[in-house]
Amino acid sequence: MTVDLKNRNYLSCSDLNLEEINFIFNLASSIKNNTFNQSYKKTLGLIFEKSSTRTRCSLSAAIFKLGGNCIDLNPKNTQIGRGEPIKDTARVLSRYIDVLAIRTFEQKILEEYVRWSQIPIINSLSDEEHPCQALSDFFTIWEIFGKLSDINLAYVGDSNNVANSLIICASILGVNISIASPKNFEPDDAIVFKAKMINENNTLKVTNNPIEAVESANVIYTDVWTSMGQEEDKEKKDELFKNFCVDQNLISTCKNDPIIMHCLPAYRGKEISDEILEKNQEIIFKQAENRMHIQQALLAAIM
Ligand code: CP
Ligand code: NVA
Repeated sequence: MTVDLKNRNYLSCSDLNLEEINFIFNLASSIKNNTFNQSYKKTLGLIFEKSSTRTRCSLSAAIFKLGGNCIDLNPKNTQIGRGEPIKDTARVLSRYIDVLAIRTFEQKILEEYVRWSQIPIINSLSDEEHPCQALSDFFTIWEIFGKLSDINLAYVGDSNNVANSLIICASILGVNISIASPKNFEPDDAIVFKAKMINENNTLKVTNNPIEAVESANVIYTDVWTSMGQEEDKEKKDELFKNFCVDQNLISTCKNDPIIMHCLPAYRGKEISDEILEKNQEIIFKQAENRMHIQQALLAAIM
């Protein structure tokens, strides 16, 4: 390996630079082509405080395919759920396992694990970011278009964890990104500032008009309007977001013929119509599959 990522934490998309992301993409390609066959007798621990199908299963499959194994540290039946402090849990787990993947609420919970662990920590979704998702999605875009330069990505919907990671990763990779969210649901200033700090030439555009965002899009991306842990706002958001559905009406305003992406799970008839999801199912399920290949590459690099 030419790039050394051993023991690297991955809490935010900004934890990998352009060269390192390209390294992970190339490693994931070798893994997909079966030209990478190193074996790792390593153990991955999963601490998931929110539901998950793709992230949990793709990480578990990824470590098995690398020759390692996986322990599900379900907070409900470990002492984590009974309030054992992170500083104790992290120091204990560092003695048994080699890498920890955590799905949780605030980013500071992940930072506390990093502070007390001697093993790398992977953010498997927090309220702030979903970096494995964005990394994998740009890999999918790279596979489909054969490049990332001159790609216009339009994200339509809630400026949530997935949108934040897409913004940061797009800034590192030099992908043009437009975000269309209803008023008061635009990306936080801190994320916009972070994207600018990473690449002062980044072309992030924020609008309240989905038609404006998708006009020149090659890729339209959407995610749920209500993220896990924010369910109390669901009814209000369903009303406020109703003009932000990725459907045929919106797509027919595009100049190009964009591909449609969704990280899943999807709520058909809300952020995406059933018709558009099914028309793009090949891309959307390729996205889901690539989660496993990218995480296999990430694990191989950091363990
Ligand atoms: N996209 C994604 O992270 O899905 P899960 O919530 O099923 O892991
Ligand atoms: N924004 C969504 C992503 C789910 C994969 C959530 O946090 O619930």
